[in-house]
Amino acid sequence: MIPEIRTDLTGGVMTITLVRPDKKNALTNEMYGALADTIEHAQQDSNIRVLLLQGDGDSFTAGNDMGEFAAIAAGKGPGERQVHRFLDALANSTVPIVAAVNGKAVGVGTTMLLHCDYVVLAQDAQLITPFVNLALVPEAASSFLLPLRIGHVRAFEMFALGEPLDAQTALAWGIANKVCANDQLRADARRMAEKIAARPAGSLSAMKQLMRDAEKLVSQMNSERVHFEKRLASAEAREAFSAFAEKRKPDFSKVAQQ
Ligand code: COA
Repeated sequence: MIPEIRTDLTGGVMTITLVRPDKKNALTNEMYGALADTIEHAQQDSNIRVLLLQGDGDSFTAGNDMGEFAAIAAGKGPGERQVHRFLDALANSTVPIVAAVNGKAVGVGTTMLLHCDYVVLAQDAQLITPFVNLALVPEAASSFLLPLRIGHVRAFEMFALGEPLDAQTALAWGIANKVCANDQLRADARRMAEKIAARPAGSLSAMKQLMRDAEKLVSQMNSERVHFEKRLASAEAREAFSAFAEKRKPDFSKVAQQ
């Protein structure tokens, strides 16, 4: 395991904590790999009855590491993109997943919640899907799952504008089960994870498989990947990544459409 991903198995609950608070828990290729390993392992280990995802510091996660996006856009990315393995593992998990979300959940930080089975938001949680602002497209099968969950017009607004969705609205729209006080988040999520872990695991796993069409989700992700990879290599995306690195607003007006 790597220091940025901490795991702890207690009482059948495998807690997975993102530990890169100085970078708002932005996810690197290495972190995706460790997350994928953990979720894949959980499918084989009967001691793991529930997975619980959380982030250290003031944010759940700022999504994909922007430096790595920029490197990929410049043709210098890693050979094997572990994010794909992570997303496939999420789609295929038959182990129930609980998420405890505080602060910002950006990009995959929000879209991974659509693969979780019980989502607790702290009052300060904000869900942000800035794919279009970054000249990208939604991933993690969210182009299918988000409209299905909240309806087309709300999903369009979230994707097209990338503006933060507050916790109460996310609850009202069915993205989360519960909103709690910031200082209660971990205890509330843990309590729920333990409750689920006490149920018969075989039954839960069969139920979860019946509720989710993993094959459809993986197929949607594969379609999204084709567009995502193309967009990552676009001049628009390069402008978006440079703007982030230079702490300025992107200017797409001079970038030719690709
Ligand atoms: N990748 C790499 N580093 C990131 C990051 C990311 N996705 N998100 C934040 N960071 C870094 C910042 O560069 C900054 O590093 P520095 O201290 O070395 O300058 C540090 O984390 C703190 O971020 P900052 O922007 O100062 O915090 P904030 O509270 O003002 O804003 C966010 C937090 C998450 C709203 C903002 O950082 C952001 O928009 N990040 C990009 C999110 C994103 O677009 N992700 C990709 C989704 S597809």
